[in-house]
Amino acid sequence: MVLAVVTARRLEPARRAAVASVLAEAFEHDPMQAWLFPNAQRRMQRLRRFYERDLAVRLEGCTTTCLLGETAVACWQAPGESGTLPPRSALQLAPCFWSVVAHHPLAGMRLLAAVLRQRPDEPHWYLSHLAVRPGDQGRGLGRTLLQWGIERADKEGVGTYLETANPDNLPFYRSAGYSQVGLVRSGDAPNVWTLWRGPSEQGSPPPRRRVADDGAGNVGASPDGGDQRGGGVE
Ligand SMILES: CC(C)(COP(=O)(O)OP(=O)(O)OC[C@H]1O[C@@H](n2cnc3c(N)ncnc32)[C@H](O)[C@@H]1OP(=O)(O)O)[C@@H](O)C(=O)NCCC(=O)NCCS
Repeated sequence: MVLAVVTARRLEPARRAAVASVLAEAFEHDPMQAWLFPNAQRRMQRLRRFYERDLAVRLEGCTTTCLLGETAVACWQAPGESGTLPPRSALQLAPCFWSVVAHHPLAGMRLLAAVLRQRPDEPHWYLSHLAVRPGDQGRGLGRTLLQWGIERADKEGVGTYLETANPDNLPFYRSAGYSQVGLVRSGDAPNVWTLWRGPSEQGSPPPRRRVADDGAGNVGASPDGGDQRGGGVE
């Protein structure tokens, strides 16, 4: 257990590099990043570059919470802030996006589209990134940052939503009240679990999604069912 004060503030340009560095270190061995950036020697450098750009364009102005200096970071998007990008931002993000899918152009784009389709329609706080530097993991920092967003969403009477490609994270989120609402399976990409926590209640109904089906019957909604029997979005 740590005594930590969460500082919630909008991300300032001067702190971007430091935050990108926390993200790159924390996600270096994440299954999705390892798939997107297979060259282990260059992955860290590429991840830093990617996150800097992502923070500058897609997450510009989102609510970022940090604690203990640059050790842990959560990027929360308030209801209405996530999901779409203004055309100018989409253009600015294009080179960075391309660097991400370069090794799997078609599979990468299919995966992204499938993940975006799972986003709930209803208002929610979206946890875009949560990361703790490897040397500081397991001390309660991740839980503290997660709880910050949960409490905020509870006060507003809305849920929170996130995706993870690392099954090791599922117990962490489940113990914070999240339920699995979907599983995206796309080609040889790592699985992506989608998780929802309703406002201040246990077992609230799963959210409605923008698209309930991808047209081919491949929808992965199985509230906390553990095993998904053919329910992935391929
Ligand atoms: C996942 C992550 C944010 C958790 O943060 P953390 O500070 O290490 O976790 P905490 O110390 O707050 O853990 C809180 C609880 O979850 C448990 N927990 C944390 N990570 C876990 C894991 N991978 N598997 C199982 N339990 C886990 C802890 O044991 C602890 O349990 P307790 O409260 O009963 O003691 C952090 O490990 C991380 O940055 N991982 C790499 C990046 C990542 O995967 N981010 C999440 C993307 S969705």
